[in-house]
Amino acid sequence: MDRIRIVGGNPLNGIIPISGAKNAALPLMIASLLTSDTLTLENVPHLADVEQLIRILGNHGVDVSVNGRREHQDGSYARTIHFTCRKIADTTAPYDLVSKMRASFWVIGPLLAREGQARVSLPGGCAIGTRPVDLFIEGLTALGATMEIDGGYINATAPAGGLIGARYTFPKVSVGATHVLMMAATLANGTTVIGNAAREPEVVDLANCLNAMGAKISGAGTSTITIEGVTSLSGARHRVLPDRIETGTYAMAVAMTGGDVTLQGTDSALLETALEALRRTGAEVTSVEDGIRVVGHGDAIKPVDVVTDPFPGFPTDLQAQFMGLMTRSTGTSHITETIFENRFMHVQELARLGANISLSGQTAKIVGVSKLRGAQVMATDLRASVSLVIAGLAAEGETVVSRVYHLDRGFEQLEEKLGRCGAIVERVSE
Ligand code: UD1
Repeated sequence: MDRIRIVGGNPLNGIIPISGAKNAALPLMIASLLTSDTLTLENVPHLADVEQLIRILGNHGVDVSVNGRREHQDGSYARTIHFTCRKIADTTAPYDLVSKMRASFWVIGPLLAREGQARVSLPGGCAIGTRPVDLFIEGLTALGATMEIDGGYINATAPAGGLIGARYTFPKVSVGATHVLMMAATLANGTTVIGNAAREPEVVDLANCLNAMGAKISGAGTSTITIEGVTSLSGARHRVLPDRIETGTYAMAVAMTGGDVTLQGTDSALLETALEALRRTGAEVTSVEDGIRVVGHGDAIKPVDVVTDPFPGFPTDLQAQFMGLMTRSTGTSHITETIFENRFMHVQELARLGANISLSGQTAKIVGVSKLRGAQVMATDLRASVSLVIAGLAAEGETVVSRVYHLDRGFEQLEEKLGRCGAIVERVSE
């Protein structure tokens, strides 16, 4: 199993190209199941989760061809991928594929809309909470589907004439359930109105792509989304939006190590709340042409409290990284997690580097320390693992992060991107 070895203490200086967003690419790829034409996605990141979804889509009959690998001057690349599903080959998404990644459960929406039936294993993914599927079941039931749980699978069946548009308000905001209901409703008979919809930029990106495919969706980005059903969708070409979590992660790394980095190909509008929190810590964050410039001072990091919330609030996917930054602040800060109930697994690993963190329910109290010291730590989930890398960059001496397969699910070319800015980060294969 690979490990990441970091020797801390170097400031970051240079340019980091931001990849296409994993969390946008996954639902966009799944949307290819809705049409027999070709959906072409540009700027698809090269990540383990994307490769896993390609395998899952292949099982349903999607033909995938990768080309247009465009090498940037700095060695990173973005891929253009063509997805064509002439015919759904199989409406079952089996346990061994779905259990590896929660988002693969989302195929249930398009399969049900196009074929009238789907048998999808209950999902797996990062162990950050119980992550139930009740909202998917309720939402699709509102569109007329019959949903039954049987042997670890959900059997979903649409009415004989297809799904029926309806008004449905989620009792809780869910990104995945919003994606799925929106995709399913594109091919339903009549109009669907989704209330309390997720407002994340990735939902807007999916709606834009579906509209380019011929769907009639309005209101994405607000909490009410209206979808007028159409009889079929066509192909389209769509560029995946930049990864706001990767953007925020590197911005926090610079705030912590000090230095001056331009995050290229991203947009501050995607993460205003997080950038504002970063500014309050004392980092300079400005929008520049084609990106964001972050100047960090590395010391005198001010303590800042944050509470995670659905978009436009502070993203839960940046909570661990922000906690990493706060371990070196000059005072006491509090971070409250409201989205997932078990998303503090990085706390004990950060403590191994010398952080002073105590937990009380869903709130972490972080008393800043003047120094972190390198240690052996273990990645526990995708975003937690990158918080350990950031902390390792700011720690004295050597940090070794094990179980880096978590990182490979969501961060493209992490060592290369950091290495080109002066960090000492290498992958050690065993
Ligand atoms: C997506 C993101 C993930 C991010 C999360 C919240 C992708 C691939 N993943 O995950 O990185 O951390 O949004 O921003 O885009 N819930 C229920 N019942 C359901 C569905 C969800 O109770 O049927 C709960 C979840 O347990 C969680 C909350 O709703 O407490 C939000 O989860 P959700 O927005 O659905 O997260 P994902 O879409 O899985």
